[in-house]
Amino acid sequence: MGQKSEYEFYERIKDWNFDEFQIVSEKINNWDMYDILKDVTNEESRILDLGTGGGEKVLECFPSNVKEIIATDFSSAMIETANQNLRKSNRKNITFRLMDNLKMNLPVNYFDVVVARNTVTNPVQIYKSLKPGGYLIIRGVDMYDCHELKRIFGKGQAYHDKKPISIIDYEAVLDAGFEDVELVPLHEREYFKDKNSLYQFLLKVPIIDDFSEEERDHKEYYQKGIDMDKLEKYIVRNTYKQGIRLLRRYYGITARKG
Ligand SMILES: C[S@@+](CC[C@H](N)C(=O)[O-])C[C@H]1O[C@@H](n2cnc3c(N)ncnc32)[C@H](O)[C@@H]1O
Repeated sequence: MGQKSEYEFYERIKDWNFDEFQIVSEKINNWDMYDILKDVTNEESRILDLGTGGGEKVLECFPSNVKEIIATDFSSAMIETANQNLRKSNRKNITFRLMDNLKMNLPVNYFDVVVARNTVTNPVQIYKSLKPGGYLIIRGVDMYDCHELKRIFGKGQAYHDKKPISIIDYEAVLDAGFEDVELVPLHEREYFKDKNSLYQFLLKVPIIDDFSEEERDHKEYYQKGIDMDKLEKYIVRNTYKQGIRLLRRYYGITARKG
């Protein structure tokens, strides 16, 4: 809307009161994927965790009173770590397997819930693997995550994207045929106790790597080091009594196979 037509719009409407619609609102910022997972599972449930990493979350946060959990990753090093972590745990019903999320080779109509946290997904393949009535739960890192930091560095994961990752995922889930599809923005503050802990964290995660959802001609995806002057500039502006703050922007998606 141009400025003139916006002005005319408000002139015509005359107030910003919505009482007449009797809208009932619910707060959405207590979204927690593990609470949802608990709510939608029981002793008969079979769960698939895609891109499980070293199985850290599945071992610690997934319900234990379910029939079966299969957790997959395309990295054999991750699956090896996951199996080591499994042996150290008391968990009995979890199996780790090597699998590419984009070439899923699991039985069809088999799982009650598929979980994908911070990993790539193919909703069409997930849909096939779910039983009718089964649930999909996704949690991801959205566009504008750590945006101030990325602005200082002039680069970062999804920094040049035109369309938010959350919307790309949301549309892919809708297009795959899922029902009751909900997209929830999740904003969190994370604090780091000192410069070194933030520095080590940034070396481990791809936040200021030049990753993108969109096809671009990248010269270098991965950073070779971190520009300390830029990091210092960020720290000066973002130090609080709780520590150095990163503003995180995640998203959650829940959906059901009809
Ligand atoms: C950011 S980690 C998240 C790990 C875990 N889901 C969590 O939330 O703690 C992403 C994981 O996805 C895996 N991954 C990335 N692309 C994948 C693909 N195409 N197929 C299977 N796993 C993939 C990586 O190997 C890595 O372990």
